[in-house]
Amino acid sequence: MTLPPADALVFFGITGDLAYKKIFPALHAMARRGNLSMPVIGVASSPNTTATIIERARESIAEHGGGVDEKAFATLAAALCYVQGDYREAQTFVKIREALGGAQAPLHYLAIPPSLFGDVVEGLASVNAAGGARVVLEKPFGRDLASAKALNETLHRRFPEEAIFRIDHYLGKEAVQNILFFRFANAFLEPIWNRHHVQSVQITMAEKFGVSGRGRFYEEAGVIRDVIQNHLLQIVGFLAMEPPSNTYAESIRDEQAKILRSIPALTPADLVLGQFDGYRDEKGVDPKSRVPTFAALQLRIESWRWSGVPFYVRAGKHLATTATEVVVEFKQPPQVVFPDAGASLGNYVRFRLGPDVGIALGAIAKQPGEEMRGERTELAVVRQDSSDEMGPYERLLGEAMQGDATLFARQDVVEAAWAIVDPLLDTGAKPLSYAPGTWGPREANRLTASVGGWSDPR
Ligand code: BG6
Repeated sequence: MTLPPADALVFFGITGDLAYKKIFPALHAMARRGNLSMPVIGVASSPNTTATIIERARESIAEHGGGVDEKAFATLAAALCYVQGDYREAQTFVKIREALGGAQAPLHYLAIPPSLFGDVVEGLASVNAAGGARVVLEKPFGRDLASAKALNETLHRRFPEEAIFRIDHYLGKEAVQNILFFRFANAFLEPIWNRHHVQSVQITMAEKFGVSGRGRFYEEAGVIRDVIQNHLLQIVGFLAMEPPSNTYAESIRDEQAKILRSIPALTPADLVLGQFDGYRDEKGVDPKSRVPTFAALQLRIESWRWSGVPFYVRAGKHLATTATEVVVEFKQPPQVVFPDAGASLGNYVRFRLGPDVGIALGAIAKQPGEEMRGERTELAVVRQDSSDEMGPYERLLGEAMQGDATLFARQDVVEAAWAIVDPLLDTGAKPLSYAPGTWGPREANRLTASVGGWSDPR
């Protein structure tokens, strides 16, 4: 379902990290494109004023938004106002209602801890600012399946599912959308995109940096909650889903839910957990922490298309490089014509999702010379230096304002993703240690041994 366009933005947590790093730059970019024409009401509990918030917005855009465009900034500054208040006090919501004036369809962005969602949702309802409104939420949506369900119940008390926009910024990435586009806009892939031709699928999200001062957050999350349950399972869904139909708006999310429900819950044998040496010395981290900063796992998809094809997923902090990549490897041809054609990883599709963007097809061609020897070549289909012309937050905020929820995580999709990882979340198992700058614990190689090992992005 598509809602009418929003007529005001209320941002809860305006003094926080997300506003500073992502939201002010996104609003500034929207203003530059002429797409910001609604009041922006920032809410937080600290003693600020509209003027200090505008100053903070300027700093944020200078630091994270590629520099201030004075004309666009003037539009943003004129739209901004600040409401100070405690989320547990009725008076805060009275002030928000006043600031909203006659707005009928506000967008409430909750960049606050989920434990406060209930207070905010009820507070908004008490001043008649929930009906006709929509909410945008940040991940994580809960800590596990049970808490995600409880959170959804809290929200559904005041907002129907169509008015809930759960952000997973990976869904707003140009390169992630291109997985879907490339699959379904080309006829040549479909006949081979299945268990008869695909040998294995690998997804690696490697980050060279550590937890960068977010130790306390990371202690609560760990790698599975931070990026696997959401970003990487969304990618698995885009790679594996059946073709959606264009006849109704929810078809992509329906297919996404269907494919994630076809993945059985993981067992300990499917998983290798790691923790980089030095993690326990990070600020905010328990010196005896068992929180994993690396995970490698193997998924099965019990569907007609994918039965028997392993999907390997790996993510970690302090790895050898920063790159997110998908490699779909095809089965080897019978070696009866050119026995030496060899070279493992011959035919594949590689989706490079970041930091640069690309789609490439791997093939084997003859090496020049007398002998019939093969060498690997790669055909670049897409190659872009900068990953996004429009950043994911600008895109997603714009879609939520317009009322289109296609690029947001629906309740059943989120719950299906939790169900896959749920049994492994709090086993208390000790992660294996690994040296920063490597590809994680060696034990992870056990998972991919039968398909020739991991394909490490460069
Ligand atoms: C966030 C995680 O959701 O995604 C971070 O909390 C991670 O830990 C980040 O670094 C990666 O996003 P991107 O867009 O840089 O790949």
